[in-house]
Amino acid sequence: MSVQIETLIDSVKVSNRIREMAEEINRDYAGQSVHLICILKGSVFITTELAKYITLPLTIDFMSVSSYGDGMESTGRVRILKDLDEGIEGKNVIIVEDIIDSGNTLHFLCDMLKSRRPASLKLCTLLDKPDRRVVSGVNVDYVGFVIPDKFVVGYGLDYMQQYRNLPYVGVVVSTE
Ligand code: IMP
Ligand code: MG
Repeated sequence: MSVQIETLIDSVKVSNRIREMAEEINRDYAGQSVHLICILKGSVFITTELAKYITLPLTIDFMSVSSYGDGMESTGRVRILKDLDEGIEGKNVIIVEDIIDSGNTLHFLCDMLKSRRPASLKLCTLLDKPDRRVVSGVNVDYVGFVIPDKFVVGYGLDYMQQYRNLPYVGVVVSTE
């Protein structure tokens, strides 16, 4: 199978934007600490890049959920594959996602994490595909880039577990 990928957002733009989001977080939480929740696997790349430029006291935890098979369409079901290691009660939690598509994953995560009584809960995503949203009421606080309804890979995002390591965000234009 040959997969063709076209650059949508180059690596310099991605890095610069993540740095800007970190600076926004530094301003918004000045004098406080933050607890990043990285949603495996795709968000590893954005989480580590973001964390490097956050100058506040910071902790990181990881959660793995599955809402997709290996293809390009959401199944609409969300399952926890790995829960957090630590509790979040009283913490300033920021969920870090690679992309918000249907909104199913974040909707589920927000509801579940709110019930654990964090001091605050905000959402940060590298990419947002608002045209694909099927769940309303998902309010994202930090958005890297709003992108059109295209299947993208790179910077943590995969197609059949491949291409996460691309340093840019690209569109899969054909999978002949
Ligand atoms: P949602 O639950 O539909 O919002 O989907 C969120 C998850 O689906 C993301 O964390 C990704 O793992 C995956 N996903 C959605 N759109 C894309 C895409 O364009 N490329 C790669 N993965 C995607
Ligand atoms: Mg995926």
